[in-house]
Amino acid sequence: MLLNVNGVVAEIPRAWQEESLLSVLREHLGLVGTKYGCGVGVCGACTVHVGGEARRSCLTPVAACAGAPVVTIEGLAGPGGALHPVQAAWLAEAVPQCGYCQAGQIMSTVALLRRNPAPDDAAIDAALAGNLCRCGTHQRIRRAVRRAAGERP
Ligand code: FES
Ligand code: FES
Repeated sequence: MLLNVNGVVAEIPRAWQEESLLSVLREHLGLVGTKYGCGVGVCGACTVHVGGEARRSCLTPVAACAGAPVVTIEGLAGPGGALHPVQAAWLAEAVPQCGYCQAGQIMSTVALLRRNPAPDDAAIDAALAGNLCRCGTHQRIRRAVRRAAGERP
């Protein structure tokens, strides 16, 4: 099967086709920005986009992604490495602490802003409820989402 990841098409040999998308991304394609947290769909650290929607890659069979473009944190930046507005907002608000959950938080936020460009705190919390952060960065995440939405300078 063929897998389109961040605009690059990779051949996925039969031996990998029983694996999760997370496993293929990290172990075979070297895209380690997507994190392995719980492995059972609870923490959100493994969130990527599949066909434009946020998905937990630990629960997503790679075989289910044929024909659906996959975007990881490595694929968010624009030409020349220009940061995605959500990434820039994250830096401006100094969101990360240990950083482990942050790729998933950012991928969920990009998907949120695509469907709701001006989310209030309740919408932000609802969209990110499945992205756990043991470091307690949630207040800064809210500020960064609002900044990315253009509500903060
Ligand atoms: S590693 Fe996928 S939800 Fe935790
Ligand atoms: S920044 Fe450490 S788990 Fe979220």
